[in-house]
Amino acid sequence: MTAPRTALVTGANQGLGRALAAGLAAGLSAGDRVLLTGRDAGRVGDAAAQIAAQLPAGSAQVQPRVLDVRDPAAIAALAAELGTIDVLFSNATARMSPDADPADEVDAVAETSNLATTHVLRAFAPRLNPGGRLLIVASALGTLDKLDPAVAPRFAAAADSGDLDAVDALVADWRAAVHAGRAEQEGFGRWLNIPSKVAQVAAVRALARARRDEDLASGRLIAALCPGLIDTDASRPWFADMSEAQTPEQAAAWPVQLALAPEFDTKYYGELVQHGHVLPWETGVPVAHSATT
Ligand SMILES: NC(=O)c1ccc[n+]([C@@H]2O[C@H](COP(=O)([O-])OP(=O)(O)OC[C@H]3O[C@@H](n4cnc5c(N)ncnc54)[C@H](OP(=O)(O)O)[C@@H]3O)[C@@H](O)[C@H]2O)c1
Repeated sequence: MTAPRTALVTGANQGLGRALAAGLAAGLSAGDRVLLTGRDAGRVGDAAAQIAAQLPAGSAQVQPRVLDVRDPAAIAALAAELGTIDVLFSNATARMSPDADPADEVDAVAETSNLATTHVLRAFAPRLNPGGRLLIVASALGTLDKLDPAVAPRFAAAADSGDLDAVDALVADWRAAVHAGRAEQEGFGRWLNIPSKVAQVAAVRALARARRDEDLASGRLIAALCPGLIDTDASRPWFADMSEAQTPEQAAAWPVQLALAPEFDTKYYGELVQHGHVLPWETGVPVAHSATT
């Protein structure tokens, strides 16, 4: 008999996160639990109840929990309360608008995607059970080639440092540059999603440097995930053509399989992965979007 397993998804009341939570619950067993987390009690409660109503018998319990990932103390407290974790998808994201001034959005983006990523990695990586999976939802934008050559070496150096504090310091520099109106001049660019996603992957790479041998010996996987284009309220404003976009359920299928399979390909460890492929850190894959600047 296997011990009951605990899975956790951040930003899980809608979009990809919700589909990840539903997929995990269907793939796990009665006795296991999926913590469907988000920042609003009503929204997580509704989502958990709706998923539970549609699950086949024998699925895991879906438990709604409030977790605002912009609150580092809340992340640390939940980790301490749980003690250990088997599967965690760090998925939450702040909405961005092509028409907004990046200075108005950068704090939410940096705190929801970047500082939350490093806080989750610090709090939960030491609590990952043998065979566990800690997956940071990033994007195909998360590779060095998407950055201006003026700043790409700084992200590469942060990843190579093996130090999550170095990644946070670079994110602080980017955030300050956006507030000062110098982001484009310094090479960070205008579209917040690019430095944000590259910094998420840099954080995974930094932590993976230190943990790789020990984690692989015990079947633990820490990786960044590229889910591909998904039709959600977050992506629609950015892409002129959504005809190729996946549903959240389609996008969640492979990540859930990766999270629950007893084995994984060790080439995924510490990398940005999509549907069985590693996206190369330096060269990535082409991404088209409708943002004009
Ligand atoms: N959609 C795509 O095409 C695409 C492509 C590549 C990568 N991704 C990545 O996939 C992930 C999910 O994207 P999505 O399109 O599903 O986004 P989404 O529909 O906007 O969902 C984002 C989720 O994050 C939650 N959230 C926001 N701020 C939070 C906070 N402070 N604490 C906790 N939860 C918070 C939201 O909750 P509320 O309902 O309370 O706002 C929502 O549940 C993101 O990491 C995104 O970058 C998406």
